[in-house]
Amino acid sequence: MPFYHTLGSIPRKRHIVFRRPDGGLYAEELMGHEGFVGTSSLLYHTHPPTTVISARKVRDVRWEADDETSLRHRHFLTARIAKGGSPTLDRVPLLFNSDIGMLYVEPDVTDAHFYRNSQADEVVYVVEGSGVLESVFGELPYKPGDYVVIHRNITHRWRIDHAAGASKFLVMESRGHVRFPSRYRNDFGQLLEGAPYSERDIRRPEHVEARDEKGEFPILVKQYSAINELVLDHHPLDVVGWDGYFYPWAFNIHDFEPIVGRIHQPPPVHQTFQGDGFVICSFCPRPYDFDPQAVPAPYNHSNVDSDEVLFYASSEFMSRKGIEYGSITHHPDGLPHGPHPGRAEASIGAKYTNELAVMMDSFKPLHVAKTAMPIEDPNYHKSWVDGQHANFNPPTS
Ligand SMILES: [Fe+2]
Repeated sequence: MPFYHTLGSIPRKRHIVFRRPDGGLYAEELMGHEGFVGTSSLLYHTHPPTTVISARKVRDVRWEADDETSLRHRHFLTARIAKGGSPTLDRVPLLFNSDIGMLYVEPDVTDAHFYRNSQADEVVYVVEGSGVLESVFGELPYKPGDYVVIHRNITHRWRIDHAAGASKFLVMESRGHVRFPSRYRNDFGQLLEGAPYSERDIRRPEHVEARDEKGEFPILVKQYSAINELVLDHHPLDVVGWDGYFYPWAFNIHDFEPIVGRIHQPPPVHQTFQGDGFVICSFCPRPYDFDPQAVPAPYNHSNVDSDEVLFYASSEFMSRKGIEYGSITHHPDGLPHGPHPGRAEASIGAKYTNELAVMMDSFKPLHVAKTAMPIEDPNYHKSWVDGQHANFNPPTS
């Protein structure tokens, strides 16, 4: 999506003869958003990508909403979530609507299968862990703090570097296309000087090497809210080259250049990505507001027409008590929230914050998934009252 890129071997022009060393034709495939009118790439496969040996539905994927929907602020502790499993099949749904789902997983295996999500763009925030995202577009190394953006339909596998420690992924599955905010780009698509990141910060697949292997290779495809298995008669990562605008890419949160002001700047200055029906923002270490009378902690606000979700990627956050590393807070549409008792006063005169957080604001209300209930702190909504705050003890299991 970001801009034109090419990797490996491609012919001089599109749609002309391009032969393998054995004389056969490479199989050209166009892949992109919105059929033939969105961003796309042309890939050159060693074998046709159509040679399916078998197809079956494995299971439905239904995110179930909790029935208890009384209006209140919510707090979930991902540190208490069940650990392990697959990076693609064992994600725990936490919050969702028809535009966006937020899930969490701490995978401890590299999948034997390949995977593609054909119904959503995925933004995977790598909280911890490193490795390589291998895909038909080549190898994309990832590291902590990366937003790895995998557009829909890209066959891939997370090759986890288990020696590098545990993996923790915050996953956002988007029905619409994930992109740069349009206000960061000029009429030609180039990122503007005032944008908080530039093209140099976007990492693309580095190396593509065709795997010419025959056999039985299962690809698990998420489509129509179900996991399906398609078995190919050859290794799916058999691409010798490609070019275009459609490919997986990564952006590290520490490459986001924070915009600061003399007094408090509103959340849109932290915007990182745009989706349909939601935005993603990055709160990064930065100098605080520099007017001597400034109150750096955010003012109370009612985020009318928007549900606000914050993932705390470090233990420090300027306005909240009782929040821990890995916490997720959900502040529903129109319900005022703000600094916890004492936090506004304490922020006056502070010079710097080391906070690190990922925010996802949706425009439609979010459902709380049933699978989020076991990790909920049930007292969070009462934590702004001084006396009640003293009793605020997140559950230990
Ligand atoms: Fe807020």
